[in-house]
Amino acid sequence: MRKSLALAGAAMLALTMTALTAKAEDADSRADALVRQMTLAEKIQMVYGYYATPSPGKNYTPPPESVPYSAGFVPGIARLNIPAQTETDAGLGVASHRTMPDPRPRTALPSGIATAATWNRDLAYEGGAMIGNEARLSGFNVQLAGGLNLLREPRNGRNFEYAGEDPLLAGTMVGLQIKGIQSNHIVATVKHFAFNDQETSRMAVDARIGEGAARTSDLMAFQIAIETGDPGSVMCSYNRVNGAYACENDWLLNGVLKGDWGYKGYVMSDWGADHSTVEAAKFGLDQESAGLIFDKAPYFNAALTEAVENGHVPMARLDDMVQRVLRSLIANGVFDNPVSRKDAEIDLDAHAAVTQADAEEAIVLLKNNGVLPLTPGVKSIAIIGGHADKGVLSGGGSSQVYGRGGLAVPNEGPNAFPGPMVFYPSSPMAALQGLSQAKITYVDGKDTAAAAKLAAQSDVAIVFGTQWTGESLDAPSLSLPNGQDALISAVAKANKRTVVVLETGGPVSMPWVKQAAAVVEAWYPGTSGGPAIARVLTGAVNPSGHLPATFPVSEAQLPRPVIDGKDPHDRVTANYDIEGAAVGYKWFDRQKLTPLFAFGHGLSYTRFAYSDLKVEGAGGMVRATFTVRNVGPMAGADVPQVYVSPAKTVWEAPKRLGGWDKVMLQPGEAKTVSVTVDPRLLAVYDPAGKTWRIAEDDYSVILSQSALAPVASAKVHLPARSIGLKGID
Ligand code: BGC
Repeated sequence: MRKSLALAGAAMLALTMTALTAKAEDADSRADALVRQMTLAEKIQMVYGYYATPSPGKNYTPPPESVPYSAGFVPGIARLNIPAQTETDAGLGVASHRTMPDPRPRTALPSGIATAATWNRDLAYEGGAMIGNEARLSGFNVQLAGGLNLLREPRNGRNFEYAGEDPLLAGTMVGLQIKGIQSNHIVATVKHFAFNDQETSRMAVDARIGEGAARTSDLMAFQIAIETGDPGSVMCSYNRVNGAYACENDWLLNGVLKGDWGYKGYVMSDWGADHSTVEAAKFGLDQESAGLIFDKAPYFNAALTEAVENGHVPMARLDDMVQRVLRSLIANGVFDNPVSRKDAEIDLDAHAAVTQADAEEAIVLLKNNGVLPLTPGVKSIAIIGGHADKGVLSGGGSSQVYGRGGLAVPNEGPNAFPGPMVFYPSSPMAALQGLSQAKITYVDGKDTAAAAKLAAQSDVAIVFGTQWTGESLDAPSLSLPNGQDALISAVAKANKRTVVVLETGGPVSMPWVKQAAAVVEAWYPGTSGGPAIARVLTGAVNPSGHLPATFPVSEAQLPRPVIDGKDPHDRVTANYDIEGAAVGYKWFDRQKLTPLFAFGHGLSYTRFAYSDLKVEGAGGMVRATFTVRNVGPMAGADVPQVYVSPAKTVWEAPKRLGGWDKVMLQPGEAKTVSVTVDPRLLAVYDPAGKTWRIAEDDYSVILSQSALAPVASAKVHLPARSIGLKGID
């Protein structure tokens, strides 16, 4: 497993950085030279994308060279050897449009929030590298991933595509996924920039947030992901931010992204997120996506030509737009390693192992009174609900990947977008039967009395609770839908050894939690989710997932108990200043609320002990060193977390996650771990000075097992220090 950045790695990093800079300079000059040779029409061609799925209602047929039933296409220019851009969704694998007659069978990773729950940097990278390989072999050179919107709203229907509530964890994991994708010589796209934190009224909601809070929360996550993964493109979002649409938001695009952070890639609009020609071009949008089908007008086609010709958009700005697109393609190797469709070369078997490894580490054991792992003494198991006899659930919308073997449960959920509801044919029950001698019986849970009866007759009952979420819809509440809470209660009443396995998009409430003997959060576990779940239940895998998001007791604990807005185009305001940068556990800390399960929480079948916490702050760099020992009976991986907290300085909340590591330990084994804290996580943003400032103060460095489970703490005194907006110098 990856170690925190050690000094020995610094020299290697410097070398890589030099190589990267050379690569970037080369890409810049090659792109400049191309722009100089291009006609106005050719330049316009580079910044205007086509939808790549037929739209019979609109009498639209995609360009023939595009990859069928995909997200987008930008034609190439043969005379200049500029390749076409072929764009695919999304972050969990190569998607197929829901109308595709025979969807592409591809590997789906567990949901993004699940990968974040592994807290394993290597898995984030490897998952990205795997789906990027499938994208490349499917003929795509632009992958519309990684998804990164902070989990500000636990009911957000797209939380499953993202990476949780903490800017450091989310930014790091998604940045590494991007790096993995781009290792295939294709471009990745971090999205949706920014504050697209709810689906309700997503096309027009105005996210209001002060600058300091913005930079300390969602923007921090994006900045970390961009620094970590260097994505070729950024997708601006549907919503408005402080009044202006994200895709024509001067502050967001020109100010923060390209100015303060020095971002050199291109900004593409989300499908239907461009609202203008001149404003969008001037305020930072570089490429319009699928304008003809999704936007009110094709703003970056003839209208942009006209705007350039009449001087409303300077030619220099159009050149900059084109240069950004080309340099990202060149820098990522798209020119030098052209993609072509080689579907037959996709190694679905090898990739099944990659997604399963991710799922196994993503599963979070939330509660366990000892019923898990299941022992050979268990002679009969009742499995109830969730279609666990057939497969595992996935999230809906544009990111939908279709696995091998089609839909395990046809005709579930809505027919219309974001449907269909896709269960992958990877049955937890079949996998469990393969690992256990027990007699396993399934009932679907529709008849509560029958389920309770079966539970009462079995040694152990396992209820699968599902919550399907999807793009464009927020979950109506934190409750499991369709009466599942009542079912779980009834089963747990009938059998004290009831295990609840959840397949949810994000946090859910659990009114039955005290009755359940064990609770396992399996998220949407991807195309190999069945065996992953079974192996955790039996102890073939020792669970090591930890929550990347707080699980509230109920909506009443949230900054917005009711989500603002209703219809997709409602021009409502969402006041994100209520919590500001105090997202998730920071809000719970600040408001002194006790959640159902804390951020960072996750149990194991073994136990870990900590000792020798030492903290240094030389040169303003805080480093915590400590020893973790496996003091239990079984090999397992721990996620020691380091939180930081100032004595006097006022932050948005009492503490922030400063770093973590994931450490695999045999029984009795100990390892020394070192965690370095990014100085920006110790700073407060100063809008007047446009800088991050660390205040002189004593800072507690708290070694913890979750946001609410400190195990040791030490203090370090830091002098005042400023840090530039471009990152750590
Ligand atoms: C989604 C994007 C996606 C795009 C293309 C939009 O509806 O918000 O995430 O990449 O469609 O399919």
